[in-house]
Amino acid sequence: MCGIVGSISTKTNIIPILLDGLKTLEYRGYDSAGLSYIKDGNLTINKVKGRVKDLEKNIKKDAFSNIGIAHTRWATHGKVNEINAHPHHVGKITIVHNGIIENFNKLKHKLEDKGYKFKSESDTEIATGLLDYYYNKYQSIDKAIQKFIKKVDGSYAICLILDNEDAIYVIKKDSPLIIGKGKDENYIASDVPAILKYTKNYYILEDYEYGKVTNEKITIYDKDGNIIKKELKEYQGSTRTSDKGIYEHYMLKEIMEQNTTIRKTIDPYISSINDLLKLPDLTKYERIDIIACGTAMYAGLAAKYLFEEYTNTKCEVFLASEYRYQNNFLNDKVLSIFISQSGETADTLAALKKVKENKCDSLGIVNVKESSIARNIDKVLYTEAGTEIAVASTKAYTAQVALLSTLILAHAYRKQIFKEEKIIKILEEFKNIDQILKPILENTDLYKKIADEIYEKNDIFYIGRGLDYALAMEGALKLKEISYIHSEAYAAGELKHGTISLITQGTPVFASATNKKINSKTISNLKEVISRGAKCYLITDEDFKDNSIQLIKIKKVSMFLKPILTVIPYQLIAYYTAKLKGCDIDKPRNLAKSVTVE
Ligand code: G6P
Repeated sequence: MCGIVGSISTKTNIIPILLDGLKTLEYRGYDSAGLSYIKDGNLTINKVKGRVKDLEKNIKKDAFSNIGIAHTRWATHGKVNEINAHPHHVGKITIVHNGIIENFNKLKHKLEDKGYKFKSESDTEIATGLLDYYYNKYQSIDKAIQKFIKKVDGSYAICLILDNEDAIYVIKKDSPLIIGKGKDENYIASDVPAILKYTKNYYILEDYEYGKVTNEKITIYDKDGNIIKKELKEYQGSTRTSDKGIYEHYMLKEIMEQNTTIRKTIDPYISSINDLLKLPDLTKYERIDIIACGTAMYAGLAAKYLFEEYTNTKCEVFLASEYRYQNNFLNDKVLSIFISQSGETADTLAALKKVKENKCDSLGIVNVKESSIARNIDKVLYTEAGTEIAVASTKAYTAQVALLSTLILAHAYRKQIFKEEKIIKILEEFKNIDQILKPILENTDLYKKIADEIYEKNDIFYIGRGLDYALAMEGALKLKEISYIHSEAYAAGELKHGTISLITQGTPVFASATNKKINSKTISNLKEVISRGAKCYLITDEDFKDNSIQLIKIKKVSMFLKPILTVIPYQLIAYYTAKLKGCDIDKPRNLAKSVTVE
């Protein structure tokens, strides 16, 4: 989603730093870009609809500045065009903004009554106007910011420059923002990777805080203007930027990495029962709530099945965007598990705040270290999927599922539902995961053949029962995200209550049948759609032969590994289908990697 970069320096030209930062954030999804800088008291603003490389072409070759701010915009208020792109400039104030100003309409009318005229449809221009209004009124940018924090509803990470001052101001609420500390120069970014080339040291701004950044000093204030002492963090991860290696797309690279990322994630817990028991003890809870968005939510649905089936523990799964506005029936016997790759998803973060306000226990399954969810949750378990660049999540999903599976195994052991021998057998399978996945990852010809059969279709259905239904949802999501083919998942038994009317000659239907207790039921449902002309594909570990169904065989493993083995063929079929359609696989239209607005 939107990205922010800012920099101020004693000597260095900050324009390449800003462009470089924006390029690092590109994978997160955006539709326009802009940059502004001040040179000898003159403000320049460049904005384009399109990519950072287009913005770069727009900037004068000899442009030089020591102070500037830049932005990639994922449109929320107003069309994708140059006028709505950031930075916005009103009076003496120029800002870039991530988030949504919810009361922008009311503020707009008030400012118009005071004589302000706005050019764009953007809520950010109103925020700029409001800051300019208070700046003129109080003749103090500090006062203007404090007043702004009081008056504005919504979310914002703002980077601001004044026409007449060598400083960058930052303001934050419900959208991430960090300040990087360098030597004779400082940086601002919505995400740490944007500035890692220049510094590993940074401060994290919390909600309602604001800051003043000059080339030699960083000062952070609370909403009333009191100076806050902050801990200077040092980034611990690798600073090497991820590249595609031998692969044509990040998505394919990330799918192929899963044999190592899964193992890395669960490695600390699978050597012995003692290691498994390093995972948190959940026995005091009567109910587990899982809250997440998108693919992370589907990982939660797979976990729900395992929790309920193998640990006899009630588990509810919620979309974070719904959870935050509903009655949550929380009490101290409920553990809320939050799953997030980025650790920054606005709805998931808001749902976490709600749980914390209710003083209930929370546990995070998070990929990005030190992200907002990781910092704010009671306890965090990190997935070790590494940086995921492709918008469609693959290796983060399997790492989440693997980590949740080990957590559930530990719970089953503690509740004495599983005996030691059974646990050890499953742990052995996890230790062998790379060998188990090898044939699945290498079954390329079959995935390409299937992609060739489906890429021109308009509607594709995914069905399954129990755990396989949760996997069908993730399969359908992967395909629609990157190939733009309409695809829907249904509980296999529910198809004939309506959706079967959409099955016509040649409609592709995917299913997985990985639970011997109910496989025959799913296969009967496939037979029903075959009778109506569907072309069926079945992922299964059963020795099953049927000429009317294209089989995708996977190895027989414990249920705890099945989500991983089943989803990988779905990921690769989606990938090859999108490739045949010539889609922008790593950056699908309209999607963002990290959704930092509601
Ligand atoms: C976006 C991404 C998805 C992701 C979802 C939740 O929609 O495109 O891939 O699953 O957000 O993100 P999170 O970072 O919280 O896992």
